Parts: sequence; C-alpha cells; structure tokens
Amino acid sequence: MSRATTRSVVTGGAGFIGSHLVELLLQRGDEVIVLDDLSTGKASNLAAVDDHPRLEKHQGSVTDPATVRGATRGADRVYHLAAAVGVNLIVDSPLSSLRTNIHGTEVVLEAARETGADVLLASTSEVYGKNTADRLHEDSDRILGSPLLSRWTYSAAKGIDEAFAHAYWNELGLPVTIIRLFNTCGPRQTGRYGMVVPRLVGQALREEPLTVYGDGRQTRCFSYVGDVVPAMVALAENKQSKGQAFNLGGAEEVSMLDLADRILAVTGSSSPVVLVPYEEAYSAGYEDMRRRVPDNTRSHRLVGYVPSTPLDTMIRHVAEDLAASGTASSAPAMVEIPVS
Ligand SMILES: NC(=O)c1ccc[n+]([C@@H]2O[C@H](COP(=O)([O-])OP(=O)(O)OC[C@H]3O[C@@H](n4cnc5c(N)ncnc54)[C@H](O)[C@@H]3O)[C@@H](O)[C@H]2O)c1
Repeated sequence: MSRATTRSVVTGGAGFIGSHLVELLLQRGDEVIVLDDLSTGKASNLAAVDDHPRLEKHQGSVTDPATVRGATRGADRVYHLAAAVGVNLIVDSPLSSLRTNIHGTEVVLEAARETGADVLLASTSEVYGKNTADRLHEDSDRILGSPLLSRWTYSAAKGIDEAFAHAYWNELGLPVTIIRLFNTCGPRQTGRYGMVVPRLVGQALREEPLTVYGDGRQTRCFSYVGDVVPAMVALAENKQSKGQAFNLGGAEEVSMLDLADRILAVTGSSSPVVLVPYEEAYSAGYEDMRRRVPDNTRSHRLVGYVPSTPLDTMIRHVAEDLAASGTASSAPAMVEIPVS
C-alpha cells in the first residue's frame, strides 16, 4: 500500500545546507530522518524544527552500514549531503575524510538500493578543478593537480562519488540525481572550514582586517542557500533528472577583493583589507582556481532554477546570522581555504 507522505532521509541534515533542506522538506509535509555525526554540523542548526512531529534524528556515521540501514529503512528518498567539507578538514584528517567521502557514499547508495529509495547526491564544482572555462557545463573536463597533493583529494573523492552513483544507476537501476553545488552561502554556514563569505563577514563584524588570499583577483559565483535548496528538491523529484548531473551555481562573478569591498559596504565596517600571500596562508605549493563560473542551463531547463538572490542580500543575511548567533565575536580556530 503506498503512503501519501514522502519519507526523506537527509544525511548531513545538521549541517549548513542540510538543515535548510530539512526545514523545507518538513514544510512540504515529508517525514524527515536526519543522519549526522555532528562532526561539522550542530544540533542547534535544527533548533527551529527540533520538536517537529515528523522529524526523526539519528546521530551516527554514514560509514557505518548498520546505522545507515537503520536510518534509511522504509525511505522513499535519500538526500546524501554528509561529507567532510572544506580542504582544511581533508588536509588535517585525510584518511577519515576520504573514508567519509568515498566509503560513506558507497554505504548510502547500497542502503538506498536495498530499501528501494531514490538518491540525490550532493557533489561540488570542485570536481572541475582548475578548469577556468567561461561557463563550466556538466560535461566540462576536470583539470586536477596531483592526487598526492591533499588539496585535490576532496575533488577526487567527490568525482569517485559521482562515478559510484552513476554506476549504481547504470548497472543496478538505482534512481540517482547528482547536483554540483558551487560556492553556496547563507545563514548557519561557518567560516571555520574554509568558507570565504562567513570568514570575511566575521572579520568585518569584529572590525579586524579582512584577509584576502593571493592577489585577490580570483573570482567565484556565490549562490544563496535559499535559492539552491528548493532546486535540490525539484531535481530530486523529477524523473528526468535520473542518471544526470546538474550544476547549481550563482549568477554574479565577483573577485575576492570586490567581495571584501561589498562586505565592508553592507556591514558598515571600517576594517582594512589586506592581501595574504598563498604561501603564508597555506603550505607551500597550494594551488587555487583563478575563476569558477557555472553554466546553470541544464538545471534551469529542467526545474526552472534561477539564482535570484543578490550578493549584497546574501552578505546581509550571513552578517545578521553571525551577529545573532554570537559567532562573529570569536576568531575562527584554523587557517581557512576558500574552497567548497
Ligand atoms: N557549502 C558549499 O559551498 C558547498 C559547495 C559544494 C558542495 N557542497 C556539498 O554540500 C554538502 C553539505 O555541505 P555543507 O556546506 O552544508 O557542509 P557542512 O559541513 O555544514 O555539512 C556536512 C554535514 O555532514 C555531517 N557529516 C560529516 N561527516 C559525516 C559522517 N561520517 N556521517 C554523518 N554525518 C557526517 C556534518 O556533521 C555536517 O552536519 C556536502 O556534501 C558538500 O560537499 C557544499
């Protein structure tokens, strides 16, 4: 007998993007099961829905098959977001990060196959590596540095995840949709693991110098979590998305120096902006991407994705969130790398 309510599992549901997804799914009427080990996520990210009668929370790792089987039993859909995110984490704990990002994904795909759920896999624009094409589309080449440089292992692991997901679709018929998120920002994102917007906004709010790495002319296209999350759900629900990858990126290309200026203007901060050479910010031999610009045509055509939130609005929301949560007042613990 078919249930009216969709039972959706969100791995990484206590994280930045995952917690926004959980809120949207509950609003839509889904039963939502969160599986998270709280390594980078926080229980407080789910504070707004904590007592929701359709929310069930499991604390555990996606690398543990019994835990994943328990959380996914009877699920209709699995949104797989759990991952070691940010190059800092990968560099500090390369083995556990690789295990989470490769083995964890295989465990989730297998559990979904066993229970008959479809899967949305959160991948990343990092898979394109150093490709600086005008518009990166889903079939663009990957240009990566040596696999012996830990900096590239996040990209390598996510690439393997995509290959696993695609093989499950091709060989075993598991309905899988892959999304490639570009730099996504919004409330609840932390600057601790290398995300540039909350890091610079936090510095601005504390009236500290905004530290921009390299020559500051490298560009990114930031997207807002409130634009991306509904598109994730629409793609997951769309039968034509199966077996394919979809970019979900921002519309406005901005250099890191311009980003710093925009943050100063929005927050009203009088902090100076200082350039920090890569070799001071990171270990020798660090490689950055000069630019990363998405082609969102495929996701626009299928589900009407439009990254409509202006950058200044994103900055304002991040600043309000950091100020309200009190996290702007403490300096982040680690050196941060603007990679997501
Ligand atoms: N934020 C971005 O700009 C961005 C860009 C590209 C891709 N992504 C992808 O989106 C997803 C969500 O990222 P985010 O930015 O919300 O990061 P996040 O760190 O806030 O979320 C990741 C969540 O996964 C959990 N987690 C980590 N290891 C786990 C494990 N072994 N078992 C269970 N849970 C585990 C963490 O506790 C955290 O709650 C990730 O897959 C990431 O690779 C994010």
